[in-house]
Amino acid sequence: MREFILLSRRGYTKPFDINDLPKAGRIDLVSRFILSSIFISEKLRENVKVYVVLEGPPNPPKLITFDSNLIKRIYPSEIKIAEKINNALKKYKENQIIESEPGIFIQKKSFERLIKEFLENHKKLVYLSRKGILFKQFQFEENSCFIIGDHVGLDKKRELFLKRLKIPFVSLGRISYLSSQVVSIIHFILDNKFKF
Ligand SMILES: C[S@@+](CC[C@H](N)C(=O)[O-])C[C@H]1O[C@@H](n2cnc3c(N)ncnc32)[C@H](O)[C@@H]1O
Repeated sequence: MREFILLSRRGYTKPFDINDLPKAGRIDLVSRFILSSIFISEKLRENVKVYVVLEGPPNPPKLITFDSNLIKRIYPSEIKIAEKINNALKKYKENQIIESEPGIFIQKKSFERLIKEFLENHKKLVYLSRKGILFKQFQFEENSCFIIGDHVGLDKKRELFLKRLKIPFVSLGRISYLSSQVVSIIHFILDNKFKF
């Protein structure tokens, strides 16, 4: 299972206007990230989970999960994926994990709690950061979880938190890529290593 965590520090935690995704704390970015994570041309990738932690107003944090093995009806369209995020936010209930539609879940969970649960379950975590070691020197493993920031990136406190947990920082080079581009590059590296 390939897994991706996006920390969306501005993404709205209430239903938003579907006609203005940038205004909803860059939900356009979140949608593109999910699209790049779970789709290849014409179909869903198998064995991919995406975790989006929304930390925008009014009621953070909210964790939305997309599981490509369970999702039933979805199109590779930014706006359609944003509708699914909106639907999950509408169905959210306090103290519950809600499956808003097949393969899409919403609950209250912080970034820190999520990371700790991954480590408790002995999952390999990797943080994508330009300050990390160059990808060419890093031994990628197929069943890993990749942590990626949004347009503002992770704050210093979060980076320190990851460092203390000894999570490796890996760089894709000096260029600052879009979050969705980072996902595509990781997929390409892993496809190249494990699938071609
Ligand atoms: C648009 S960038 C964030 C830009 C933000 N101003 C910053 O400096 O963190 C989105 C995320 O993609 C990842 N990223 C972008 N370029 C990268 C690179 N060359 N190597 C590793 N990760 C990268 C990081 O996780 C980053 O937080």
